[in-house]
Order: sequence, then structure tokens, then C-alpha cells
Amino acid sequence: MSSALEVFKTGLMDDRTVFITGGGSGIGRGICDILGGLGARIFIASRNPEKLRTAVQELDANGVTADFMTVDVRDYQQVEAAIGQCAKRFGGIDILINNAAGNFNCPTAELSPNGWKTVIDIDLNGTFFCCKAAYPHLKESEHARIISITTTLGRSGWPQAAHAGAAKAGIQSLTNALAVEWAPDGILVNSVSPGPIAGTVGVDKLYVKTGQEELMTSRVALRRFGRVEDIAGAVAFLCSPAGDYVTGAELVADGGRQWTFASAS
Ligand code: HXC
Ligand code: NAP
Repeated sequence: MSSALEVFKTGLMDDRTVFITGGGSGIGRGICDILGGLGARIFIASRNPEKLRTAVQELDANGVTADFMTVDVRDYQQVEAAIGQCAKRFGGIDILINNAAGNFNCPTAELSPNGWKTVIDIDLNGTFFCCKAAYPHLKESEHARIISITTTLGRSGWPQAAHAGAAKAGIQSLTNALAVEWAPDGILVNSVSPGPIAGTVGVDKLYVKTGQEELMTSRVALRRFGRVEDIAGAVAFLCSPAGDYVTGAELVADGGRQWTFASAS
């Protein structure tokens, strides 16, 4: 399916367990394919059981050991239960991928307090909940990684989605703090920042349905939206031994989008 599977050694992720939120669709689903294809066991947590069941069946059909639990990451008890279930089922957790997110375009002046809170709760609080619940398991692993999926729009500010931008900026700050706090435990903590990725709910909702696809493509230096596997490959790199000295980093895979207007031409 992806060039990443050709780049990395077969069986690279054998005997590793991945706990991923929102792995039933989009970028998260692509990460499951790559890490599972490299030999990892995959445990997916999100809200929609149909999506989860389908993903696990498809992974299973491709020879990947996978399981799921329905979880709303806004609820710490649900997160803790799912992490516990994953560790019990697969004997531990090596890699946590914080991928679940919610988003919508809304001018900030019109955004309700609950609209703001909803996105902060899913993205930022959900990420903290997963990190906290996974920590006792990750510190037992010899290959521990936390990777959160963010966006450079957290750093720049995100007009029309200030809620999501603020949440992603918070996740990067949390990433930097945990990289230092949990380094003595051998846990490497990083983020991957995608640019607009074709065929995803986020791009469809924010750019395609709003008639901005062409405009947004022109804002990417490489003049194309990314592919799910572009992001999954970046995640695989950070999980691999090639990423052993990388912690507290934001790995940007955005086709040069962040510098398109920052640069002179
Ligand atoms: C204004 C909105 C809104 C909208 C919801 N709200 N949608 N406000 N404009 N379009 C407000 C509601 O009115 C409500 O506030 C509050 O948000 C909660 O809404 P609910 O529908 O009750 O929330 P919930 O059912 O929990 O759904 C959460 C969600 C939903 C975030 C609103 O869209 C969702 O589940 N999304 C998950 C999938 C997703 O968004 N994926 C994209 C990720 S992409 P009030 O005040 O009325 O109670 C991404 C980056 C994309 O993050 C980058 C592209 C480059
Ligand atoms: P997506 O398919 O909508 O993925 C988001 C996932 O999060 C869904 O599978 C959803 O599953 C899950 N989720 C949402 N709310 C949840 C909750 N409360 N509890 C548990 N799970 C929840 O969108 P995507 O575009 O692939 O986004 C994946 C990640 O990439 C997100 O972090 C997003 O911010 C980031 N990102 C995307 C792009 C892009 O171009 N698409 C660009 C930059 C960053 P359920 O509905 O089953 O809960």
C-alpha cells in the first residue's frame, strides 16, 4: 500500500503494541496499516464501533493482530479502561499515538463556549488523558514512544479554527514538557504535523466543502495535498531505531506549506 513499507525492514515493529486513538479513519487508519504492516499489534480507541470493527477486520485480513474498544477520549475513566484493556490483551504498551481530534470552521466571535470546550476536550485534554493513563505501561517498554498528530497552524494561529489551533499548540507544549520529564523513563515524546491530507474528514470539512480546495493547494509549496501514507511514514520513522535520538520534536510533513507565505516569493 505504501512506500513506507518498502523503506522499513520487514518485522521492524514485531512484538510492539500500539495504542492509537481515532485509528478507524483517515490518517490514523493509515498509521495502523503501516505500523501493523511492520509487525506491530494495534489497539484502536474511538467512539464509533462500526468504524472500529471494520478497521480491525481489514487489519486482521492483512495479517495484523488488532483489537478495539469504544472510547470517548474526553472521559478519563474510559481512556484508563481502554489502556488497561490493551495492556492486558497484548501484554503492555510500547507506542501511544494521540490522533483523535474534532474540528470545524467557525469565526471565533460566533463560537459558543461549548464549541470551544468540545475541541479543547477532545484534542488537548484527550491527549493528556492518554499520556497519563499510558505512562505506567510505557515506562516498562524498551521502545517507548508517544507521538501526537498536530499541525503547524497551532504555532501560527488558526483563523476560523482558533479552538483547534489553541488545542494543537497546547499539545506541542505538553509534548515538549513530557519529552524532558519522561526522558529518564526512556519514553520519547514527539509530534507529527501534517499539512492538508487528501481524502480525509478534516480536509473535506474545512477545505473541500467550503470551496477552498484550489486555494489551499496553492498554499502548499509542493502544490499537492499530502497522502495518508506520507504521515504514516513520518510516524514509522519516529518509532524506528532511526528515531532513537529524537525527542521533543515536531516533525513537519506539510509539503512546505508553513513557509509558503513566510518566504519572500
Ligand atoms: C460552530 C459548532 C459546529 C460548527 C459543532 N459546534 N459544530 N459550532 N460551527 N460547525 C458546536 C455545537 O454547536 C456545540 O456547542 C458544540 O460545538 C459541541 O457540538 P456537538 O455536535 O454536540 O459535539 P460532538 O457530537 O461531541 O461532536 C464533536 C465535533 C464533531 C468536534 C463537533 O465535528 C466531531 O465529532 N468531529 C470528529 C471528526 C473530525 O472533526 N475530524 C476532523 C479532524 S481534522 P453548543 O454551544 O451548541 O452546545 C483536524 C485538522 C484538519 O483536526 C486540518 C485540515 C488542514
Ligand atoms: P478523522 O478521520 O476525522 O480522524 C479523527 C478521529 O478521531 C476519528 O477516527 C474519530 O473517530 C476520532 N475521534 C473524534 N472525536 C473523538 C472522541 N471524542 N473520542 C475518541 N475518538 C474521537 O480526521 P483526520 O483528518 O484523519 O485527522 C487525524 C488527525 O490528524 C487529527 O489529530 C487531526 O487534527 C490531524 N490533522 C489532520 C490534517 C488533515 O489534513 N486531515 C491536517 C493536520 C492535522 P470516531 O468518530 O469513531 O470517534
